[in-house]
Amino acid sequence: MTCPESETNDHEMGQCDRIGAGRLLSVSALLSDGPPTEAGKPMVAVTVPSLSIQESHGETLFNDNCASCHGVNAAGQYGVAPPLVHVIYEPNHHGDMSFQMAASRGVRQHHWQFGNMPPIPNVSENDVINIVAYVRGLQRANGIH
Ligand code: HEC
Repeated sequence: MTCPESETNDHEMGQCDRIGAGRLLSVSALLSDGPPTEAGKPMVAVTVPSLSIQESHGETLFNDNCASCHGVNAAGQYGVAPPLVHVIYEPNHHGDMSFQMAASRGVRQHHWQFGNMPPIPNVSENDVINIVAYVRGLQRANGIH
């Protein structure tokens, strides 16, 4: 049996294998059309709503304690840390307590490949309540409920 040039001859099955060629194509499509992956670039586009007083207070605390990793507007940073404006962190999957735990105990790498998050001892429980209000406000404005 003879196969076209781009296909390999699978002698056992007596069929031409198109799967290999298909895989190659999709990999090159990913490389050329994928999102920008330079370290430090935001990972998602975030629409910023008008913030309540509590949310603005949370924004300041977030910028001082979290944005160095999670990025401005919690949009994440390639090579550093994930966006918190992300469906993974919607309230039903990561409730407010998971933010308290993250700040007080740190987070072991599990959803991403950025390594562990260290504990953030500078923020109080009350600070984290305000940070969560800010992050939830950003999430809602971006369709994450
Ligand atoms: C030194 C970098 C760094 C800083 C600073 C940081 N984080 Fe993180 N954070 C991470 C990384 C990395 C992850 C992802 C871990 C994973 O799931 O792989 C993460 C995950 C999280 C999660 C998800 C927790 C879970 O249960 O999966 C929350 C919530 C979070 N961070 C909140 C915060 C808040 C709030 C602050 C500021 C008080 C903060 N982070 C500061 C790096 C950081």
